[in-house]
This record gives sequence, C-alpha cells and structure tokens, in this order.
Amino acid sequence: MEPLNEQLIEQIDTYIESLFTPADAALSQNLVDAEAAGMPQINVSPNQGRLLYLLTKIAGARRVLEVGTLGGYSTTWLARALPADGLLITLELDPKHAEVARRSLDRAALAPAINIRIGPAADSLCDLIRSGTAPFDVIFIDADKSGYVEYLELAMQLSRPGTLILADNVIRHGLVLEAHPADPSDAGAKAYNEAIAGDPRLESLILPIVRARVDGLSISRVR
Ligand code: SAH
Ligand code: DHB
Ligand code: MG
Repeated sequence: MEPLNEQLIEQIDTYIESLFTPADAALSQNLVDAEAAGMPQINVSPNQGRLLYLLTKIAGARRVLEVGTLGGYSTTWLARALPADGLLITLELDPKHAEVARRSLDRAALAPAINIRIGPAADSLCDLIRSGTAPFDVIFIDADKSGYVEYLELAMQLSRPGTLILADNVIRHGLVLEAHPADPSDAGAKAYNEAIAGDPRLESLILPIVRARVDGLSISRVR
C-alpha cells in the first residue's frame, strides 16, 4: 500500500464537507462566538457533526444526552436531529463554556428543549440516575478522556436496549496504539476502547475520523 498522504486525506475530508455540509449561519456563528470567547477549538468537525446528526436521526431519537458541551457546536448538530418536542441534556464542567453555549444555542433558536447542567459530568450523571430519569436514545461522550470509562458505566444506567453510545477522540492521533500511553487522555481513550470491545452488553465499532490529524468516533449499541 502507498503511504497515506495527509494532504490527500484532508482534501478528501474537505471534498465530503463541500458535498454534504454547506455553510450554515447558525453553526458558523457558533464557532465565531466560541473563538471570540477564547475557547479552545476542539469541537467536532463539520463532517463529524453531520455524522452525529445522521446517527441521531437514524436512531429516531427523542432524548439525547451529551457529556462535554464546550460552545455547543456538537449540541447544535444533535439538537437539529430531534423532533420539536425532543429533549437534549448536555453536561459541562466549566460555567464559562456553559454560558457561551447557552447564548449561542438560544440564538440558534433550536426547537427541542436544551438543558445545560454545570458541574463534573460524573456528578450530573449520578444525579440523573438518582432522579430516575427516562433512558436516553443517544448518548454522546466528549468530555475529559480520563473519565470516559466511568462515563460509560454511568451512561449504561441511563440506557435501554437500542441506545446508541458514541464517544469522540478514541484514536488520539494513533497514540492509543501504544501499549502504555503516557498521557492520561490517551490512556483514558485506550481504556474506553478496551471497555467497549470487551463489554457483552454492547455491540461496538470505532470509525477512524480524518481531518488534519487522525482520530476516531466509537459507536456502541446497547443490547
Ligand atoms: N462536544 C463539544 C466539544 C467538547 S470539548 C463539541 O464538539 O462541540 C470537552 C468539554 O468537556 C470542554 O468544554 C470541557 O470544559 C468539558 N469537560 C472537561 N472535563 C469535564 C468534566 N469532568 N465534566 C464535564 N465536562 C467536562
Ligand atoms: C481535545 C478534546 C476534544 O474533545 C477534542 O475533540 C479534541 C481535543 C483535547 O482535550 O485536547
Ligand atoms: Mg472531542
């Protein structure tokens, strides 16, 4: 096989984007707001947003749970896949991120209710479990990578057979291939991958995601 040409991979991503993810006022404004607020530019890519949207629609989801809001870019994609009477709960540690997201999501005038909960995701997940909330149809994990295995365990308690559990950044530029990744985020992603692969309650796969660098999105279906 010829060596992978990074430039070609990026061109292919841009080509796909030009076909299926046309410029969009609300999404562009969301990124402008996040940058103006000095937030890190670690939102999902447009093509990944489109994938989240499609998966959520295919799942026929009415209730979505997101772990890691940042400025609400992926939230916007997920919310657009929901019916008007749908519900999206998104969990964010940093109150400043939550505030920027709130403003941007309000401006986008999305139909479903969007509930941002501030605090450590593990606490918010435990609160949801304790309150006996109805199971979610789609759960998207995208917060601190060292917490992924714990979030998976808690997400399972907020699921039903058929729930889709998705997780971003599970390839980490290939660093999860190392036997013992030194970086806690890489180690967390690797542990997550092994957890979903070995979990008899799930059927899973990871899709490599290419942009400037290679990463991955895991897709798990609860049995
Ligand atoms: N899903 C977003 C990107 C999320 S970036 C998008 O694609 O648009 C990760 C977010 O997780 C950051 O906003 C960070 O503040 C938040 N985060 C980090 N640790 C967290 C924790 N323990 N609990 C909840 N959120 C956390
Ligand atoms: C980081 C986090 C993300 O969710 C992401 O998509 C990319 C990078 C990070 O913490 O570096
Ligand atoms: Mg991410």
